[in-house]
Amino acid sequence: MKKQIILTAVGLVFATMTSYAGDIDAQGLWDKHCKKCHGDTGAADTKLGEKLEIGDYTKAETLADVSDEELFADTKNGVDGTKMPSFEKKLSDDEINALVAHIRAMAK
Ligand code: HEC
Repeated sequence: MKKQIILTAVGLVFATMTSYAGDIDAQGLWDKHCKKCHGDTGAADTKLGEKLEIGDYTKAETLADVSDEELFADTKNGVDGTKMPSFEKKLSDDEINALVAHIRAMAK
């Protein structure tokens, strides 16, 4: 009986955590904050994307050597020497993690 209660409690905590992560609208955040430079699909096929020579993230090889931690840090802190802005004040860590997953999903 006791074991069952503990298992239920663990299950509830887990359900709350996963539903929270799932509540983040990564596509919506991308459209709002990233699309104008990186493009709808991540191909950077925008005026700004071309001007700033941003990589095509729909190609798997573009970010193949970049870790999730680096993608996270680049989004949070910006990329020195480029026009990639810091989103530290605009996005929470959970939102940035959702965007990292979103970027990964763009690669073919
Ligand atoms: C003002 C234009 C602009 C906006 C807006 C922008 N970026 Fe960038 N981003 C850049 C540029 C320029 C680079 C550097 C060139 C490159 O890495 O291809 C870059 C690089 C990156 C990188 C590093 C990739 C690598 O090669 O390591 C990541 C990750 C990234 N952006 C994610 C995002 C996310 C997520 C958003 C939205 C929250 C965003 N960017 C919004 C211009 C922008």
